[in-house]
Amino acid sequence: MTEQKGGTERMEKIVSLCKRRGFIFQSSEIYGGLNGCWDYGPLGTELKRNVKDFWWRRMVRERDDIVGMDGSILMNRQVWVASGHESTFSDPMVDCRNCKARLRADHLVEKNGKKQCPVCGSTDLTEPRAFNLMFKTYVGATEDESSITYLRPETAQAIFVQFRNILEVSRKKLPFGIAQIGKAFRNEINPRNYTFRSREFEQMELEYFCQPEDGFKLLEYWLQERLKFYDDIGIPKELIHVHRIPPEECAHYSKGTYDIEFQFPFGVQELEGVAYRTDYDLTQHQNASGKPLDYYDEETKRRFVPHVVEPSAGVDRTVLALICAAFAEETVAVDNGKAEVRTVLRFHPRMAPIKCGVFPLLKNNSQLVQKSREIADSLKPYMMVFYDESGAIGRRYRRQDEAGTPFGVTVDFDTLGENGSEKRDTVTLRDRDTMQQERVSIAELKDLLLDRIR
Ligand code: GAP
Repeated sequence: MTEQKGGTERMEKIVSLCKRRGFIFQSSEIYGGLNGCWDYGPLGTELKRNVKDFWWRRMVRERDDIVGMDGSILMNRQVWVASGHESTFSDPMVDCRNCKARLRADHLVEKNGKKQCPVCGSTDLTEPRAFNLMFKTYVGATEDESSITYLRPETAQAIFVQFRNILEVSRKKLPFGIAQIGKAFRNEINPRNYTFRSREFEQMELEYFCQPEDGFKLLEYWLQERLKFYDDIGIPKELIHVHRIPPEECAHYSKGTYDIEFQFPFGVQELEGVAYRTDYDLTQHQNASGKPLDYYDEETKRRFVPHVVEPSAGVDRTVLALICAAFAEETVAVDNGKAEVRTVLRFHPRMAPIKCGVFPLLKNNSQLVQKSREIADSLKPYMMVFYDESGAIGRRYRRQDEAGTPFGVTVDFDTLGENGSEKRDTVTLRDRDTMQQERVSIAELKDLLLDRIR
């Protein structure tokens, strides 16, 4: 994980912008926060929603072979026993005897062939021991062994245990998939890099069930589909890396895994894993529950446990990647001939939290204000719109540039017909990236914007 040149400074600017503009706040901030937990503010919530909606559109709505589900976070403890999470979902942990830091053994720094504490540099470290990442809790009024369960550490297991029900109700034939978006929880030893490694986060997971002989082919297919997704949400191809995990490093259930990685300012890190999980999970649950989780193929008259390919993406990591990729500072000329630095988030219009700002040229002119409000109201059922009448128009543009709003509509005296009938009921439409303005009629504004943000 090599940090990008100037990465720390860039990351500090991004974190500060995210707080200042209401993308991301520290959870429970007024009480000193809770390590590894984050709250999304108004802009962050919209951005996150756009990520999830577009994933759902691509994975479920635009396909005939995938259906959705929404499972509970708490499940029967036996799910986690059968899946192997209770016994093996752990990271190796060491303690620094000098500064008492708790560290992931695989995150230690090495100097002169000796492992060191990354906090204080001491080499006085305990032996690694396994630390289970699942949050334990109790269901019901009694806190004893029989009431233990866990907050789910991945959404996938709910899909496996509902496989039979969903197969029956959806009447799908192989290959077909079940998609889910939801919260997952891991008691990470060292939450870090802002929201990148959190203790509470969201996943977007697909389990795509198939014939055993199609597993490897579908692994390649899903890798390409997922790369296309990142391209379609505006993450530049040159910031994406594909890492094939060497067989000896794959999880025990996987016959092949790709990590899709992103060049964050703090280094190249995983956004999503695409894994060929074989029939491991369904077989484990079938054996542990005693309930059949197999499939009867009418064509070949074969009965077997389906294999599965799993693209598993993190919502929060995708949001962070979008913000990091979009963040830019550029020097622009302003009216008085001087130059100033403009901060802009160049989100793809499809992802932008606010699609369009609407501005009356002057706030103390009731006709301009009324017309602007009418336009904003007419767009609101179709997209996120922000009405702003305060301050000079240039400052209002800058505020929306910082929020990543791709379009700005300004209502001026031409709109009111004061400079002839030709421009009556037209507005200027400003493009965030080029800062160019075009004149468009109010009547065609909605369709034009919908076309650009779709
Ligand atoms: N069902 C497979 C699975 O959970 P994973 O690689 O452990 O695989 C999938 O997680 C994705 O979930 C990761 O690629 C990442 O985007 C996200 N993720 C995992 N742990 C996370 C954490 N602590 N904070 C934020 N996102 C996380």
